[in-house]
Amino acid sequence: MRVLVTGGAGYIGSHTTLALLEQGHEVLVVDDLSNSSPESLRRVGELAGREPGFVEANVRDEQALDAAFASFRPEAVIHFAGWKAVGESTQIPLTYYRENLGSTFTLLEAMGRHDCHTIVFSSSATVYGELSEPPFREDAPTGATNPYGRTKHMVEQVLADVSASDPELRVGVLRYFNPIGAHASGRIGEDPKGIPNNLLPFVAQVATGRREKLMVFGDDYPTPDGTGTRDYIHVVDLAAGHLAALDYLGSHDGHHVWNLGTGRPASVLEIVKAYQEASGVAIPYEVVARRPGDVASSFADPSLAEQELGWRAERSIADACADTFRWQSENPNGFAGA
Ligand code: UFG
Repeated sequence: MRVLVTGGAGYIGSHTTLALLEQGHEVLVVDDLSNSSPESLRRVGELAGREPGFVEANVRDEQALDAAFASFRPEAVIHFAGWKAVGESTQIPLTYYRENLGSTFTLLEAMGRHDCHTIVFSSSATVYGELSEPPFREDAPTGATNPYGRTKHMVEQVLADVSASDPELRVGVLRYFNPIGAHASGRIGEDPKGIPNNLLPFVAQVATGRREKLMVFGDDYPTPDGTGTRDYIHVVDLAAGHLAALDYLGSHDGHHVWNLGTGRPASVLEIVKAYQEASGVAIPYEVVARRPGDVASSFADPSLAEQELGWRAERSIADACADTFRWQSENPNGFAGA
C-alpha cells in the first residue's frame, strides 16, 4: 500500500515508517523537521534496505501537500505531525491550536481532493483526563486539561464529524499511552531537543551523565509506592499497532478508536529500577513536589485492540530500558552527533 506519513521523521513516526517499509509498503514522509532530524530517515532507510520518500514541508502547506498527494497518490495517511509538550502548550496555546488543528484540516481537505479515504491519527491517552478512573476503556468520557490535550481531543471530534459526513472515509484513532524504548538496533530512538519533559529520556540522560539527577515529581500519590503510575509501551509495539489499524481499515468502514497500551501500570521508581538494571548505572534521584497537571495513575484497558486488531504489546519495560540504553549510549547526542 502507498502510505503518506506526516511527522514520519519523529520518534514514533520513524519507528512506524520502518515497520511499514519492512512489511513491503511504499512510504512518503511529510515532515518539516521542526522537532526531528533527516538523519532518522536515513537510518530507517539503512535498516529497511530502502529509503522512504521524503518531502520537507509543514503539513499546513497546502501547495506542498497537494503536490505530494498528486505525485505519490497515497491510499492511506498516518498523521503523526504535531506539537506535543504539555507545559509548552500552556505558554504558546495558539501555536498548538494552529499547528495541530490546522494540519489536520489541510490534510483532510487534501485527502478529499485526491481520493484518499483512510486516515490513522496519533491521539493520546491524555483525552481521558481526570474524568474517570483507569483502566480506561475507549468508551470512557473524554476531555482535556491543557491546550495540547485539547488539540488531541478536538481533532478526535473533527475526525468523528468528518467521518459521519463521508461514508467513504475510514478513520482509526489511536490513543497512545506512554511510548518508551527504541529500535533494538540502537540506530533510531527518541531525540528530544533541550531538557526532556518525559521520564524515560530524562532517566536515560542521567545514566549517561548528561544530567545530574532525576527529579521525581511527588511520592504522595495514592499508588503502591506513592509515585505516579503510567502505562509504558515499547515504541516498536506501538508502531506495530499502526500497521494492525491500517490492516483493519482495509476491510472495515467507519470511525474507530483504539487504546494502544499494555494495561499494566508501572511507577516512576519501578522505571528507575528497571533502567538501573538494564544499564548497570546508578540513577541518582530526588523527590520533589508534584508536577502541576499530573494524574496519579493512567493505564489502558487494551482489550479492544486485541479483539479487533489482533494486536497486543509484546515487549517489557526491561526490553524498553535495554533498547533505550543502547540507543542513548551509541548516540549520546542523538542524531546531532551523526
Ligand atoms: N516524571 C518524573 N520526573 C520527570 C518526568 C516525569 O517524576 O522528570 C513522572 C511524572 O510525574 C509521571 C511519570 O513520570 O508520573 C510520566 O511522566 P511523563 O512526562 O513521561 O509522561 P506523562 O504521563 O505526563 O505524559 C505523557 C505524554 C503526554 C500525554 C500523556 C498521556 O508525554 O503527551 O502521556 O497520558 F498527554
